[in-house]
Amino acid sequence: MSIPGIMLLRQNFLIILVFFGMVLSGLLYLNNNQNSCNQQKIERVVIELKWRQKTFGLRSLPGLLYNQPSVLVGRTDVASVTPWSAPIIWEGTFDPILIDSIYKQQNLTIATTVFALGKYTRFVKDFLESAEQHYFVGFRVHYYLFTDQPESVPEVKMGENRSLTVRKVQSFKRWQDISMSRMEQLEKLIENELASEADYIFCLDIDTKFYGRWGVESLGRLVGVIHPWLFDAPRDRFTYERRPESQAYIPADEGDYYYAGAAFGGSLEDVHHLTKTCREKLHIDAANSIEAVWQEESHLNKYFLLNKPSKLLSPEYMWRDINESAAQIKVIRFSNVAKNYAEVRPNP
Ligand SMILES: *[C@@H]1O[C@H](CO)[C@@H](O)[C@H](O)[C@H]1NC(C)=O
Ligand SMILES: *[C@@H]1O[C@H](CO)[C@@H](O)[C@H](O)[C@H]1NC(C)=O
Ligand SMILES: *[C@@H]1O[C@H](CO)[C@@H](O)[C@H](O)[C@H]1NC(C)=O
Repeated sequence: MSIPGIMLLRQNFLIILVFFGMVLSGLLYLNNNQNSCNQQKIERVVIELKWRQKTFGLRSLPGLLYNQPSVLVGRTDVASVTPWSAPIIWEGTFDPILIDSIYKQQNLTIATTVFALGKYTRFVKDFLESAEQHYFVGFRVHYYLFTDQPESVPEVKMGENRSLTVRKVQSFKRWQDISMSRMEQLEKLIENELASEADYIFCLDIDTKFYGRWGVESLGRLVGVIHPWLFDAPRDRFTYERRPESQAYIPADEGDYYYAGAAFGGSLEDVHHLTKTCREKLHIDAANSIEAVWQEESHLNKYFLLNKPSKLLSPEYMWRDINESAAQIKVIRFSNVAKNYAEVRPNP
């Protein structure tokens, strides 16, 4: 073969080699691409699953047996949703085992505040003992007890993941002033301490007792409790503050529900905004020498009119007296302790 002939052959061979090289790397590229596509798909599914586990606690759900939810059957004797689409929690509107298993995944801490000043310290033992039996059982609860007599706080056995912090605060001569200083104490507590340590907060009255479950069904961004005395009354009969001079004023043709001052809660951010706003309004009223008819409760009702709660608890969560009944109340979860006001209040 002539030298140019060999050169031509070598050139062809090189071209063929380059061609095969390109085909091969193309195939490899396609294969790789498919692999990384699959990889991305798997990662997306894993992220989705992790999100679902975090949000819905699906990890514990496979194998959990509970009744099929019905679109057609539910409570018909009461409303279980507000006109702004917030749920109202009654017995029969949630499955305790299902809802516990959903929230269990989140390792939540529920801060719970109570005030026991003067003779109200007599209620501490029953409150704490009954709460240990019924209140967020199986969840992390941190009670904050504000009192002027820390030495009188009885020893109460706390369960695992449950703790009590006692804070000494000054007392006042008038119960109205005690009531007023509460919003300020709560605001400070949330600001200074709770941010890194709790997920939700409930602020409860101490002259109360638990008789039934109060659990994670009550958790929400902003939570109010429907007052047991006025749940079936027309709004012009609600005991809102009716004098326009007060910051708590609500006219007769306004208002949604009458909320109890004895229990409210929600996320730290929302309850902080609530306590700050009520504290400011209480002080404006004080500066104008006017005191709303039910102090904190009046201001709370005004707040909830302007800032609608995201969840409402039925009067099961703040009943009148354990021995009183009403057709709609299937379970009494939490109730006022009957007391003689003249005996426990520092002034009438
Ligand atoms: C749960 O939360 C508590 C308090 O925030 C913390 O001390 C604990 O380590 C957490 N446990 C888990 C398993 O994340
Ligand atoms: C206490 O909390 C830890 C998580 O921090 C959990 O593993 C444990 O089961 C909890 N105990 C109870 C009795 O709920
Ligand atoms: C409720 O009734 C029981 C038994 O009937 C009684 O012992 C108790 O004192 C009553 N409670 C109140 C607050 O009246």
